[in-house]
Amino acid sequence: MKHFVTGAALLIVLAVSSWVSAQVVRGNPKDGQAVYQQHCLRCHGDKLDGNGPESGDLITQPANLLSQTSRAKTDWELLVTISNGALFTPMHGFRGKLTDQQMLDVLSYIRSVAPFDAVS
Ligand code: HEC
Repeated sequence: MKHFVTGAALLIVLAVSSWVSAQVVRGNPKDGQAVYQQHCLRCHGDKLDGNGPESGDLITQPANLLSQTSRAKTDWELLVTISNGALFTPMHGFRGKLTDQQMLDVLSYIRSVAPFDAVS
């Protein structure tokens, strides 16, 4: 009986963890690059360093996505900003302008250039 319970518990853990890993953000970085060039480059720049052609005109400077601060943020945190924007800054939300898939794509493009790096 004890073995059965442990076995069942293990199965549940496995089932849940595969479900959780299926929730991991999946985007296509190549498609994301096109989205980036069209919608983000003018502010965040072609190197993602925040020096886009329009960045000089802005009250709040675009985030340098290569910075340690941005890289230490989780995919989820970045996605929330992409989707909802940053309050009182020129970074407006893209929900409604981009599809969910396009937001995942652009996120995976950003991560392919500036991988997640937790501050140690
Ligand atoms: C009009 C200029 C502008 C455009 C266009 C723009 N951004 Fe931003 N973005 C900003 C600014 C300004 C900030 C910084 C906000 C702040 O300081 O809180 C920012 C912040 C961000 C952040 C948060 C970074 C962090 O470390 O928290 C992400 C992620 C981001 N932008 C991604 C994007 C993506 C992806 C696009 C295109 C789909 C995009 N931005 C388009 C101006 C822009």
